[in-house]
Amino acid sequence: MKIALGCDHAAYELKAKVKAHIEAKGYEVRDFGTFDEASVDYPDYAFFVGKAVVNGECERGILLCGTGIGIGIAANKIPGVRAALCHDLFSAEACRQHNNANILTMGARVVDPELALQIVDTWLTTEFEGGRHQRRIDKITSIEDTMAVERAEELANIVKAQSK
Ligand code: RB5
Repeated sequence: MKIALGCDHAAYELKAKVKAHIEAKGYEVRDFGTFDEASVDYPDYAFFVGKAVVNGECERGILLCGTGIGIGIAANKIPGVRAALCHDLFSAEACRQHNNANILTMGARVVDPELALQIVDTWLTTEFEGGRHQRRIDKITSIEDTMAVERAEELANIVKAQSK
């Protein structure tokens, strides 16, 4: 399985630990940075990793920032991303079984690094259960699709009005 990794400056040390840990387990990693403590903007890394996951370059993604919150909010703006913030093992398991989360987010200022690696292991090895959960994922997808159509219609109206 190929995993996309990304983080901001608050989490570059945790990202290095996660990367070494999952590479040692045989996962292939595409590391989108950042690589040091120079201040960067977490939405950029959310975008790189989210795009790699939805376009199929990587099967899953792991995104890290100070809290795991901002980078997850940003990633979830990308249609097809289902990013889940997990700081415990139950959530890591449940977001795979029920939500088919394709991106895991964590906060380096929140979670102990040892627990973070356990969360990663649980999240990477837990399968989606499908069934009634698939119906709910389909509803999330249809919200994305409906919003996209509405925006396209709005844009078409704007273009039409401008061309008069
Ligand atoms: C950066 O200082 C911090 O705001 C960021 O890592 C993250 O916690 C945002 O949600």
